[in-house]
Amino acid sequence: MAHEIIVKTKILQSGTERAVCIGIDNGKITAVEKHLDGDREFDLKDYLTLPGGVDVHTHMREPGSVQKEDFYTGTKAAAFGGTTTILDMPNTIPSVKNELALRDKLDIVKNRANVDFGLFGQLSDIDQIPGMANLAIGFKLYMSETTGTSGTIKTPLELLLNSDSLAGKVVTVHAEDPRMFADDVCDDLHRHNLIRNMKAEFMALRRILSIDSQVKLNLAHLTTAESIDQVKAKRASFEITPHHVLLHDASNIGTMGKVNPPLRKKVISKRLFDTLKTGRAIIASDHAPHTLEEKSVEFENAPSGLPGVETRVPLMLALAKKGMIRYIHVQDMCCTLPAELFDMKKGKIEPGYDADLAFYDMDNMVKIEPDMLHSKCGWTPFEGHDAVFPRRVMLRGQMIIHDGELAVEKSGKFLQ
Ligand code: DOR
Ligand code: ZN
Repeated sequence: MAHEIIVKTKILQSGTERAVCIGIDNGKITAVEKHLDGDREFDLKDYLTLPGGVDVHTHMREPGSVQKEDFYTGTKAAAFGGTTTILDMPNTIPSVKNELALRDKLDIVKNRANVDFGLFGQLSDIDQIPGMANLAIGFKLYMSETTGTSGTIKTPLELLLNSDSLAGKVVTVHAEDPRMFADDVCDDLHRHNLIRNMKAEFMALRRILSIDSQVKLNLAHLTTAESIDQVKAKRASFEITPHHVLLHDASNIGTMGKVNPPLRKKVISKRLFDTLKTGRAIIASDHAPHTLEEKSVEFENAPSGLPGVETRVPLMLALAKKGMIRYIHVQDMCCTLPAELFDMKKGKIEPGYDADLAFYDMDNMVKIEPDMLHSKCGWTPFEGHDAVFPRRVMLRGQMIIHDGELAVEKSGKFLQ
């Protein structure tokens, strides 16, 4: 029987590159074989095809801060970076701490997404959790204040995490213990690291990991090997960002590198890189754009956060191209593991999974320039870094990126 669509291409199977045909029907992968027939055929034999990326940690800024980013531009940037699913954090304005705010946000963004998306609810008041539980793809817990998170937690942590409505749900935790922060003038990246120090991360992890509950704990943006050891010992999942691996407190990028948790010392980021080599981490961008104007103030007053949704997979692929990490691990860390955590039928090129695919010409490694990118913020901390961007991107069977253009707009679907 002929498939609606077939794609002739190369994919990674058990770690090695294989030439295959991918059969697609109704937006799903229905076969992966040596030879297949199709009514429509894409000949992409020279490209390496990965599942569409799944970025489980982004801040698309809508509603409330659309001067920085909005759902349309942020999800467009995702698509151009080979990411076909994003999960959006709740520190928008107003913050998403109850059902009404979640429904309002969904109404505002739902018809403007260029990739599939899910929304987080924020944990603060236990009474607000049941109302959000059906719509939210997961929950976010901030253990300290950071951009847009004032008035953090109302219910004690133990009670909060044991809400019946949270059983089996992912709770992504921003783990920094503010009691450990040093009281000092924050005038550069080096000082920022000393103030919001590694101990603050370590102690917050200790506290959150000591609580018994039925939630799926996921620790966001871990910055040190010690943090990761602690989390692994409790069998929780964790995220690493490209910036904590590839940048450090001596990177000459000023406020563009100001982020929470901070960039660490070079030796620390090198050890974090070793975790990437194991392939057992979720790579998430923590895409948190601010305008250049907002960043162009004294270091102390500059907002924390940096963009990264479009560069996440391309940076990792360049590392693989250079032999520094394995291709199959890029696929695992950027696509498969994040999709599995949230029980999505995405992130794998196998029958039954969504036909979200990104096609890369691995001979086309480029140096990142801000004007190649599509985030509204217009800058990147990764200028000059090597990257491999996709030539085409498919979302549930539709080619959404083609010839350097967004060929199909706003076809992103809400995931709950
Ligand atoms: O640096 C950060 N920026 N860390 C956060 O946790 C929030 C983020 C933002 O939303 O700007
Ligand atoms: Zn974040």
